[in-house]
Amino acid sequence: MRHFLNIHSLDRDTILHLLADAARLKTAHAHGEVATTLRHKIVAMIFEKPSLRTRVSFESGVTQLGGTSIFIPGGEVGLGVRESIADFTRTMVHYVDCLVLRVFKQETVDGVAKHSSVPVINGLSDTSHPCQALADLLTIQEWFGEVSGKTVVFVGDGNNVARSLAIACEKVGGRFILCRPDGYAFDDDFAAKFRKHVGSKLPEETNDPFHAVKSADVIYTDVWTSMGQEAERELRLKQFAPYQVNAALLAKAPRHVKVLHCLPAHRGEEITNDVIESPASVVFQQAGNRLHAQKAVLEMLLK
Ligand code: CP
Ligand code: NVA
Repeated sequence: MRHFLNIHSLDRDTILHLLADAARLKTAHAHGEVATTLRHKIVAMIFEKPSLRTRVSFESGVTQLGGTSIFIPGGEVGLGVRESIADFTRTMVHYVDCLVLRVFKQETVDGVAKHSSVPVINGLSDTSHPCQALADLLTIQEWFGEVSGKTVVFVGDGNNVARSLAIACEKVGGRFILCRPDGYAFDDDFAAKFRKHVGSKLPEETNDPFHAVKSADVIYTDVWTSMGQEAERELRLKQFAPYQVNAALLAKAPRHVKVLHCLPAHRGEEITNDVIESPASVVFQQAGNRLHAQKAVLEMLLK
């Protein structure tokens, strides 16, 4: 693995290997073990969009592994505006050992990787969020032993988070169901990538949340309006209203169900306060797992 740009290019064994490494790193951290695998390594983080979890978990993870990180707001760099993606990348590789990017367009992070002699990590784009998907699998594995054979019902928008999780889940033998309003199905680009990299049988989709959650081991949701889609917010609020993860929906799911959300949450929109605070919710464990999952990625790329 040279870069970490999306989930679809990882094979099943690599994903399982990363999950095992993440679990090992989590235990080692809990035992206070000091790691030096990133000693003398510098990781630059260029973020075109806001972030709490991705930024802080990467910066802390790099420090915990003995390395150094540099955060640069995307506006300062002006990728493709102030200078070309190629010129940016061909400069940066002389200064740092790894690049983490959060971008508006997947093509930006792919473009950087194309010109980069150092590993590039995707910290979220319009179409994917592979770091999140890895932490999600780790969380599901912690609760259910393995992801294989488990059903994840994603209630809401088939966005970047849903796309990466659908692919990650199905790659390791899980079942993913997207439950969304008509008009918000996974697009043709997703279907093409899924067929090419996972298999011919696409993830199930439905517009009926109450039926879908009956077989759920995990109910997952995310904001209805992702960063970059703000102009659609009013329309989306109306169209997604029947897809709120609330107590009535949770009551239809099996008793053992766990609720995941990548955060930040808009309480009262895609999820209610009582559900996110309920015993079924494991969202902060999931947020914590970002740290361990990304440390596994950093070690695999930089060790
Ligand atoms: N889940 C996630 O990526 O959070 P941030 O946007 O805060 O990084
Ligand atoms: N789908 C959300 C995820 C934020 C972590 C967004 O892209 O804004």
